[in-house]
Amino acid sequence: MSSSSLVRLCSLAATVAVSSALTIAEINGDKYLSPYNGQTVSNVSGIVTAKGPDGLWLRSDAERRQNFTTSESIYVFGRAFATNLTVGDAIVVGGQVQEYRSNKDYVYLTELSSPVLQSKGSSGNNVEPLIIGEDTAQPPSEQYSSLDGGDVFAVPNNVSLVSVANPVLNPKQYGMDFWESLSGELVKVRKPTAISKANNFGDTWVYGDWEVTGKNSRAGLTTVDKDANPEAIIIGSPLDGTKNPNATKLGDELEEITGVVTYAFGFYRILPTTAITVKNSQEPALPSATKLISEGKCNGLTFGAYNVENLFAESAHLPTIASHIVEYLNAPDFMFLQEVQDDNGPTNDDVVSANLTLSALTAAIAAAGGPNYTFTDIAPTKNQDGGAPGGNIRTAYLYDPSLIRLSKPNPGTSVDASEVLPGPTLKYNPGRIDPTNEAWTASRKPLVAQWELIGTNGTGQHTFFTVNVHFGSKGGSSSIQGDARPPANGGVEDRQAQAELTANFVKSILDIDPSARIITAGDFNEFAFVKPMTDYVALSGLQDLDQVAGIDQLERYTYLFDMNSQQLDHMYVSPAIAEAQTKAQYEHIHINTWPDKAGETSDHDPSVAKLDVCAPAAAAASYRV
Ligand SMILES: *[C@@H]1O[C@H](CO)[C@@H](O)[C@H](O)[C@H]1NC(C)=O
Ligand SMILES: *[C@@H]1O[C@H](CO)[C@@H](O)[C@H](O)[C@H]1NC(C)=O
Ligand SMILES: *[C@@H]1O[C@H](CO)[C@@H](O)[C@H](O)[C@H]1NC(C)=O
Ligand SMILES: *[C@@H]1O[C@H](CO)[C@@H](O)[C@H](O)[C@H]1NC(C)=O
Ligand SMILES: *[C@@H]1O[C@H](CO)[C@@H](O)[C@H](O)[C@H]1NC(C)=O
Ligand SMILES: *[C@@H]1O[C@H](CO)[C@@H](O)[C@H](O)[C@H]1NC(C)=O
Ligand SMILES: *[C@@H]1O[C@H](CO)[C@@H](O)[C@H](O)[C@H]1NC(C)=O
Ligand SMILES: *[C@@H]1O[C@H](CO)[C@@H](O)[C@H](O)[C@H]1NC(C)=O
Repeated sequence: MSSSSLVRLCSLAATVAVSSALTIAEINGDKYLSPYNGQTVSNVSGIVTAKGPDGLWLRSDAERRQNFTTSESIYVFGRAFATNLTVGDAIVVGGQVQEYRSNKDYVYLTELSSPVLQSKGSSGNNVEPLIIGEDTAQPPSEQYSSLDGGDVFAVPNNVSLVSVANPVLNPKQYGMDFWESLSGELVKVRKPTAISKANNFGDTWVYGDWEVTGKNSRAGLTTVDKDANPEAIIIGSPLDGTKNPNATKLGDELEEITGVVTYAFGFYRILPTTAITVKNSQEPALPSATKLISEGKCNGLTFGAYNVENLFAESAHLPTIASHIVEYLNAPDFMFLQEVQDDNGPTNDDVVSANLTLSALTAAIAAAGGPNYTFTDIAPTKNQDGGAPGGNIRTAYLYDPSLIRLSKPNPGTSVDASEVLPGPTLKYNPGRIDPTNEAWTASRKPLVAQWELIGTNGTGQHTFFTVNVHFGSKGGSSSIQGDARPPANGGVEDRQAQAELTANFVKSILDIDPSARIITAGDFNEFAFVKPMTDYVALSGLQDLDQVAGIDQLERYTYLFDMNSQQLDHMYVSPAIAEAQTKAQYEHIHINTWPDKAGETSDHDPSVAKLDVCAPAAAAASYRV
């Protein structure tokens, strides 16, 4: 994308001429916004450090970097102006100081616009990039901005704006301040590691040889509580017109990168002088299959969870999803699926049933050597559950009918609210939780079910409950490096209400039977340490399976977003399972986060757990099977 293709939104200010020459550092100042915004300046001297399609970057020729707080470089916006100038030219320029952003949710970039060349001095001056972490402070590795109150994911969010508060930069503590303090600088990243896939434009997030926190075993950076990896920087379009590779992936080692720091499309970024190059990729290219294997009995059942990304009967990715379930998840006894579309997928008509979609999937699984799964779901009311129009995404279960069955099945419709009845049992099995509550507007209603294991004599034993969720999306979030602080977490109010409804439903089962076996799983679209989920745990009485199973915090990820390896998909289990005799086990299988963009099948990784659902002896007596 080129900035010239966008409307240039500039803050308006009267054009006042500054009466004495200014240094570039004085123009930038030690805050986000220039104290000279809107003013006409002259006799600004510097050396050209880089050229781009629409302008050039100029660095003060005075002794550099006396002061880490203030950038001594600036972008000079003007295509014609740059035409006859070359890297290494010493020039004196006048123009208008301008704060520019292409979108009101972004941070402003300080630039010199309408430039006029006042004089040209020597050519061929040496231009050395600042080595990040050596000629600069260390990039801060945890916090983004002094305006985040210590937590970039705090709720409520968007309580202040960088463009209004305009804080003094503290580049040793806050990542955005660090990159802002280098705005316009020519820099070098030594030993870069890619921590995202290339996006459609080839843009790729990296960190260099500086200290990082959150590094996972694939060399990505995992988001943890109060640490969302501001030490990373995205590498944007090369200045020489070459294109970054599109197959870069998590953990790739890249050749050294030299480029200029700027801000565009919501992020601080380095525009490299030429395209980045991959030196080495992580081995093995794909993860191993899960080590968790079902015991085929109550103290070792396997439970998989997979957001299958808009799967329908004719989806090209359906056979690959089936083979993932068989080969990588070892065909769990039970599957929680999310994002299953109706039989004709995105065709926006009256079809809402997913029987064909789920039959096609179970047939493909059987053909791939898996079990002959049975499925159950509840078709939503047409176009009431969000997602692609006409797709009617829903959650669904697959289960091995030789082992597991619904306990006293009594399926509800899309608008029937299941309830917890004495027993505990469910009014509708499977059923939806409070489906007409406005908390679920344009979102998926959780699918709750009660199950039993089929005993050798054919009786039902060891009942357990499941809740399969796909909470509202994070659409509408602002950039983590955007104007709103803390950044707007799109849909967080919806997820809060959804978490409370689901938690209260679960609690009503545990109120009747504190030793009930309950598993809730799916795409919660939220991190475990953010309020909707911390409240979910507190209200429901469930426990986070990552914690129960002792998964290393840095290996808890199922999704890549911007610079972060992060976890949107979770399982939460009741105390009876968390404290069962056979310890709970859990694995995230990075079959989609590790390959490049073309090699991924879904945008989420699947997970698999091995759990003990044997009824405790004392409670078992009260079960009516
Ligand atoms: C800019 O430099 C020229 C030449 O040295 C001088 O005549 C002029 O007064 C200077 N203007 C400012 C605003 O300093
Ligand atoms: C750095 O520059 C800023 C703005 O020009 C100034 O306020 C600050 O005092 C300087 N700091 C040091 C250590 O010189
Ligand atoms: C660039 O140099 C050429 C040749 O000297 C000249 O014709 C042209 O006007 C110059 N362009 C600008 C923008 O100064
Ligand atoms: C889908 O399958 C269920 C269960 O077999 C059945 O009750 C329902 O009628 C089917 N729906 C359609 C549209 O075939
Ligand atoms: C799978 O189960 C269905 C229904 O229970 C049955 O009709 C079908 O024959 C089974 N397929 C295989 C391969 O066992
Ligand atoms: C079936 O087996 C279970 C567990 O061993 C036992 O509790 C139950 O009484 C048996 N039921 C019948 C009908 O034999
Ligand atoms: C943040 O709040 C401001 C009002 O203070 C509003 O103008 C802006 O649109 C909000 N930003 C986002 C991303 O929601
Ligand atoms: C990546 O680039 C190659 C070569 O330019 C192109 O053939 C391929 O289609 C691209 N792949 C994707 C996923 O964009």
